Amino acid sequence: LFAGEVDFLKGVVAMDGLPPDDRAEVCFAGRSNVGKSSLINALTGRKGIARASNTPGRTQEINYFTLGDERFLVDLPGYGFANAPVAVVAKWQALLKAYLAGRVGLRRAFVLIDMRHGIKAVDEEILTLLDKSAVTFQVVLTKADKVHPEDREKVLAQVREKLAKHPAAYPELVLTSSEKGEGLATLRAIIAGLT
Ligand code: GTP
Ligand code: MG
Repeated sequence: LFAGEVDFLKGVVAMDGLPPDDRAEVCFAGRSNVGKSSLINALTGRKGIARASNTPGRTQEINYFTLGDERFLVDLPGYGFANAPVAVVAKWQALLKAYLAGRVGLRRAFVLIDMRHGIKAVDEEILTLLDKSAVTFQVVLTKADKVHPEDREKVLAQVREKLAKHPAAYPELVLTSSEKGEGLATLRAIIAGLT
């Protein structure tokens, strides 16, 4: 499903720019710098298809990718970075809210959480928004290569505890490393199964 079948479609800055709502789609949400673009690059095997950078807030649009003929992958703007102008944040929040509430094809939101940090207050806001929008979400832990195997269980326990309060949470966690390739096959299989 993934190999050679992914293409960038368009960057969207307002609801009226969204492509037709006629495919199954999954979106990737997460704090700025959590590794959304890197994960999309790694999943698709196409370095640079989603721009990844060290500059927080680089992905300023909702970026649509086609996955074969029947699915969209959606890279959402990162949230929670410091120094973002209030007006910009407000605009993104409004767009995100409208997107989550209005997208019939949206099958699941993957919420990326940096495995070194766990779920923070700024993540909770998004999880609550997903609950309210009744969008099933699944937590994907990123940068697993940066966490020692013996420290992993502690993070997982914190994340599970926090997720227990969110009715829209899908209980299975996915551990990933875009650098080392960990968890990518699992995530591809999950996406392939969402039709
Ligand atoms: P915004 O577009 O600003 O919201 O950021 P993003 O979530 O798209 O993050 P991006 O993919 O640009 O990655 C941010 C930084 O984290 C980059 O320096 C990446 O190289 C690094 N990074 C991403 N994934 C991994 C990973 O699995 N392991 C390690 N060690 N570093 C990673
Ligand atoms: Mg990005």
